[in-house]
Amino acid sequence: MSVTTDRTAWIEGGCTVCPHPPAKVHRAWHLVLLGPPGVGKGTQAELLAQTLGACPLSTGEVFRAARHHPVAPGSAMAAAQAQMQRGELVTDETVLDLVRERTRCLHCSGGFMLDGFPRTLAQATALDALLARESLTLDAVISYDLPAAQLIARLSGRRVCPKCKAVFHVTAHPPRAAGVCDQCGTALVQRPDDNATAVAVRLDAYAAATAPLAQHYRAQGLLVPIVADGEPARIFSRTLEALAARSVPV
Ligand code: AP5
Repeated sequence: MSVTTDRTAWIEGGCTVCPHPPAKVHRAWHLVLLGPPGVGKGTQAELLAQTLGACPLSTGEVFRAARHHPVAPGSAMAAAQAQMQRGELVTDETVLDLVRERTRCLHCSGGFMLDGFPRTLAQATALDALLARESLTLDAVISYDLPAAQLIARLSGRRVCPKCKAVFHVTAHPPRAAGVCDQCGTALVQRPDDNATAVAVRLDAYAAATAPLAQHYRAQGLLVPIVADGEPARIFSRTLEALAARSVPV
């Protein structure tokens, strides 16, 4: 799957604007997607973006995109990339600087879906404060869950297109020609942090630092838990049904 919304302003930060702003939506959703590595947040974000119009804003994607630009040795971004490659969380300070620099994306007329942020209680508290300062509120925090064995199977079989960022899976969502992107014909690659050692670190980091966020958002009445097994389309339907059950028409 390839992400269809224009996220240039989010990826590049600074003064960059999106050349293709979102289509008019009848409701600008403000969502957080929570869930362990490989649960399918990116896959669901794209499906949700097509239906709701909200823009998927992934902090991991910003760090990956920065790999294609010169990074000063010893800089926060260089440290972030090394931490990411090992499967460790990037420091809260670096992540929060990144998000604050992109605050205007939270005012996008199409709405937003934060994917992979917040990931620690400190980040969640900082997001609460940022949203309050910007007079914005969250509609829901969608929390996807899946047993560890299935997460590992999804991560070890993931293949991505380095050019258009389309995501495949060797068995669950294979490309038409083995190892080649359906969308642009580029050779697919494995993400550097999808190796077994980094995956184990990522799953541990999730359990220790991110899983407690469910309680943070449950207490705010925002948590929408979704079982993430089965086909992506089925999980997507569950998500829409759960949002509709919050008495807001989707
Ligand atoms: P990030 O990019 O956010 O990665 P992640 O959370 O580990 O999530 P993934 O992108 O690995 O998985 P996903 O849930 O999106 O699954 P996907 O849809 O691709 O973060 C990477 C790193 O950046 C972190 O480890 C950290 O170092 C750093 N970082 C980022 N944000 C940070 C923050 N806020 N604080 C600190 N550090 C931060 O699906 C996975 C595979 O499964 C694919 O192959 C897909 O095709 C397949 N698949 C999807 N759905 C299904 C299904 N229903 N059935 C079968 N296969 C499926």
